[in-house]
Amino acid sequence: MRVPNVISLKASEYQHNLTQDLTIARPSTGLALKGRIRVPGDKSISHRALMLGALAEGETTIEGLLLGEDPRSTAACFRSLGAEISELNSDRVHVRGIGLGQLLEPLNVLDAGNSGTTLRLMLGILASHPERFFTVTGDGSLRSRPMSRVVNPLRQMGAEIWGRKGGSLAPLAIRGQALQPIHYQSPIASAQVKSCIMLAGLMTEGQTTVTEPALSRDHSERMLRAFGAEVTVDPDTCSVTVTGPARLEGQSVIVPGDISSAAFWLVAGAIVPESDLTIENVGVNPTRTGVLDALKLMGADITQENCREVAGEPVADLRVRYAGSKTRAPLRACTIAGALIPRLIDEIPILTVAAAFAEGTTQIQDAEELRVKESDRIAVMASQLNQMGAQVSERLDGMEITGGHSLHGTEVDSHTDHRIAMSLAIAALNASDTTTIHRAEAVAVSYPDFVPTLTTLCS
Ligand code: S3P
Repeated sequence: MRVPNVISLKASEYQHNLTQDLTIARPSTGLALKGRIRVPGDKSISHRALMLGALAEGETTIEGLLLGEDPRSTAACFRSLGAEISELNSDRVHVRGIGLGQLLEPLNVLDAGNSGTTLRLMLGILASHPERFFTVTGDGSLRSRPMSRVVNPLRQMGAEIWGRKGGSLAPLAIRGQALQPIHYQSPIASAQVKSCIMLAGLMTEGQTTVTEPALSRDHSERMLRAFGAEVTVDPDTCSVTVTGPARLEGQSVIVPGDISSAAFWLVAGAIVPESDLTIENVGVNPTRTGVLDALKLMGADITQENCREVAGEPVADLRVRYAGSKTRAPLRACTIAGALIPRLIDEIPILTVAAAFAEGTTQIQDAEELRVKESDRIAVMASQLNQMGAQVSERLDGMEITGGHSLHGTEVDSHTDHRIAMSLAIAALNASDTTTIHRAEAVAVSYPDFVPTLTTLCS
């Protein structure tokens, strides 16, 4: 039976902008999350499929593409650069590529919206296309995020890039050049940095290598190979080499469900009593499954079923069952640090929620990167969860969360960050009274159907 008024979304004004408030009232009767659901396509793979499809010769078909705001930004940019991309209104999208080296000079500024992946990966492509001039920008959040991490290595390859603060902040201007190959030792484990340099290497004669301190997600390596590029990987040194110039050929890509979106339901199922939830068709690439490792360390009951490989990526159905009892908390504290961090970097906001319901004190360390995501996720998660009664202390590189304090509903704010909005919504499921999340429209960046799915699960 449907529980009325548990979840509602309403238009609101926030600092003179039209926004949405998501209100979650805990039902008086027990709420258990049960059934089988699907999550939207993987965001990282969706961006790469659109970009490589645009750079390839011939037609690329993408099935399961994420129809969120971020891939829409990528599609709009690459349409302006000459690729034909069908409307993003069905999750089967066709791309007629323009061919590597053939990008058109756009007539206007390329707008990456909220998407760091769009802007950083695209920079490698633009900087290596000679005789064209490009300008790129993004929304307020993206314009405050560091670009020097990709601008510096691209300049080492000979790229000409200008921007605010010496080229470290967008808007940026780029004059495309024939670049030189480099061996770049990245100081951070970042798939955006690695992919930017690899994409620049496609047009660059010779071998371009990136070495990172720990392995970040490897979707670019897998997909570039499938499109015909020569890519070698040395897992012992976390190095990847691209040999250019490359030629890419259109492919058929199938995008698995996003484990970063599945993570919200995994934590919901782990903390809401009596839940038994299966999330079907989720990408379980080992460079992304840190969230499963962390939740299992915390004692969550999660199993992988129906494991298979789809278009070069491992996929499984994930089943989560509530493992607490009247006398035992559903989860226990753990330490999340080191090489695990790049494997769950986007899931730390929701893991903070899990930690708030775990017995003991969870430490999150080596995660300073969180400070330069769509928001400062350390400061924002700590302040918003503390407003709900949690005990979270900020550290420079992470957080310390002492679980077991009852959470209560109140007014919180997404700070325009999609993952913060969804993490707070899951926290609200286990908080007393009513929680209102301001600026909840941010969820559309990576999960446009988040609220309908939440409503169905709570019915
Ligand atoms: C992404 C890489 C990660 C991740 C982001 C998506 C990608 O960023 O946080 O959401 O698709 O390459 P970093 O490379 O900055 O760690």
